[in-house]
Amino acid sequence: MGELNRRIVTDGQVFPGDVLKVDSFLNHQIDPEIMHEITGKWLEYFKDREITKILTIEASGIAPAIIVASTLGVPMLFAKKATPSTLTNHDLYTTPVHSYTKNVTNEILVSKKYLSPDDKVLIVDDFLANGEAALGLADLVEQSGAEVVGIGICIEKSYQPGRQKLDDAGYEVYSVSRIQSLANGRVEFLSE
Ligand code: G4P
Repeated sequence: MGELNRRIVTDGQVFPGDVLKVDSFLNHQIDPEIMHEITGKWLEYFKDREITKILTIEASGIAPAIIVASTLGVPMLFAKKATPSTLTNHDLYTTPVHSYTKNVTNEILVSKKYLSPDDKVLIVDDFLANGEAALGLADLVEQSGAEVVGIGICIEKSYQPGRQKLDDAGYEVYSVSRIQSLANGRVEFLSE
């Protein structure tokens, strides 16, 4: 069993509504060691891809994204969920993202200045559930004419539709932890 799966077993909590709480090490308090473990796996999987930029979405994707970016020596860009007053609509790539857990659709956005057709972009995020966030990020990249070289995920809930949607859309996905079920409060992983 990998380090992240071990940590999920020891410190994760399954909450009603099919939610895995990992905020003691992944998305509230952050353990740098486990972040390095995760990002090391992404870097190994996506090596030799000539990545020029890391793209994620605020807030929880930012921590692993900055580690990968600093290791590769490339910029990290995060999509925002609200338009800053310093940017106007024609400066932005935007796309709607529906959150099934919150039942709202929000525009996510990045400045056109920070994606260009010669970029090779690795998208990363903490969770893959319904895949809407990752598909939205990929859409922002496609709008700019840049290339999505792959999608790195910390924890994939493999029984939800996100992974299939990304596979069907032709994106290469690598998830460090793949969860098969959270039924009855127990975490079961896909065999490694
Ligand atoms: P998606 O991210 O794959 O599109 O699926 P969904 O709409 O279901 O997820 C909405 C939010 O809930 C996302 O964070 C996602 O990371 C998070 N999420 C989904 N399943 C779980 C889970 O089992 N445990 C935890 N802890 N989070 C989960 P977000 O709203 O964008 O929040 P944040 O990045 O600002 O933290």
